[in-house]
Amino acid sequence: MASLSSTMDFNTQLRRKAQSVNHVLEQLLAEQQMNGDLKEALRYTLNAPGKRIRSVLVLWSCELLSGQVNRNAEIASAAVEMVHTYSLIHDDLPAMDDDDMRRGLPTCHKAFDEATAILAGDALLTLAFEILATRTEEPSVAVRLIALLARDAGGDGMIAGQMADLKAEKTAGTKEMLEHIHINKTAKMFRCAAALGAVCGGATQQQLECLCEYGLNIGLAFQITDDILDETASSEQLGKTAGKDIKAAKCTYPAVVGMEKAKEVQQKLTSAAAAVLKPFGPRADTLRRLANVLLERTK
Ligand code: IPE
Ligand code: IPE
Ligand code: MG
Ligand code: MG
Ligand code: MG
Repeated sequence: MASLSSTMDFNTQLRRKAQSVNHVLEQLLAEQQMNGDLKEALRYTLNAPGKRIRSVLVLWSCELLSGQVNRNAEIASAAVEMVHTYSLIHDDLPAMDDDDMRRGLPTCHKAFDEATAILAGDALLTLAFEILATRTEEPSVAVRLIALLARDAGGDGMIAGQMADLKAEKTAGTKEMLEHIHINKTAKMFRCAAALGAVCGGATQQQLECLCEYGLNIGLAFQITDDILDETASSEQLGKTAGKDIKAAKCTYPAVVGMEKAKEVQQKLTSAAAAVLKPFGPRADTLRRLANVLLERTK
C-alpha cells in the first residue's frame, strides 16, 4: 500500500481521498434522523461536486503525523466539509452574495427555497458539532476538535470574515481590510482543517503550530486565487457565476492591489507554506504539492 501511494500521482491521491470523504459523508447522512425535506436540501449541496480540499487536508495532515488516516480524522474531515458546505449555502443567499449557481448546480435556495436553504445550512453546522461530540473515539480529542472548529468557523473566524466582506462592498478597500477579510472568511477554515488532522494524528504542540501556519498560508493564497478566477475564468469552468465580484464591488485582491501584485502575494504565501513544512522532511511532500497545485488551479 505504501509503495502504491508513493507512486500514485497527486491527482489520483486527491481523487481517492475525496471519494473516501464522500463515502463517510454519505454514511453519516444516511444514519441521521431528520425532516425529509430538510435532508434532501442538505444532501443536495453536500453531494454536489465540491473539490473537498479542506476535508482532504484533514486526512493528509493526520496521515503526515501518524502514517495513516484514523476514524477520528474521518469524522473531523466530514465535520469540516459540513461547515464549509453550510458556509457556501449561506454565502449564496440573496441577503449575502445572491448567487444562482454553486458546484455546477442551481444554488440551494434556487433549487428549494430561501427558508429551506437557511435551515439546511443551520442543520449542517449543527450536525458537524454533533458528529465530533458523539463519534470521536476519545472524549479529550473530541473537546479539542470542537474547540478548534468553533474558533475558526465562528464570530472571530469565518463568520467575522463574511461580515467584513459584506461591509466592505462598494468601499475603497485597503490592504489591511483585504487581509482581514480573506484570512477570516477563508484562511481560518484551512487552518482549522490542518489543525484537526494534526490533533487526530497526535501532533505535538510544535507540529500543530507548524500545520496551523501552513493552513493559514495556503488558505489565504486559495482565496486570492478565488478572486483571480472570478475575473479570469468562465462560469462553466468554475461551476459558479464568474465575474460577480466586480458587479458587487467586492473588496478583492485584484481590485485593491491589482492582478500583478495579487499573483506575487500568492507566490509568497505558497513559498511560506512550503517553508513551514521543513521540519517534516519528505514526509510532507503531499502537502507541499498541494500548496503548488492550489496555486495553479483553474476551478
Ligand atoms: C469556495 O470554496 C469558497 C471559498 C472560500 C473561495 P471552494 O472553491 O473550495 O468550493 P468547493 O467546495 O470546491 O465547491
Ligand atoms: C466565500 O467567499 C467564503 C465563504 C463561503 C466563507 P466568496 O464569496 O468569494 O466565495 P464564492 O466565490 O462565492 O465561492
Ligand atoms: Mg462571499
Ligand atoms: Mg460568494
Ligand atoms: Mg469568490
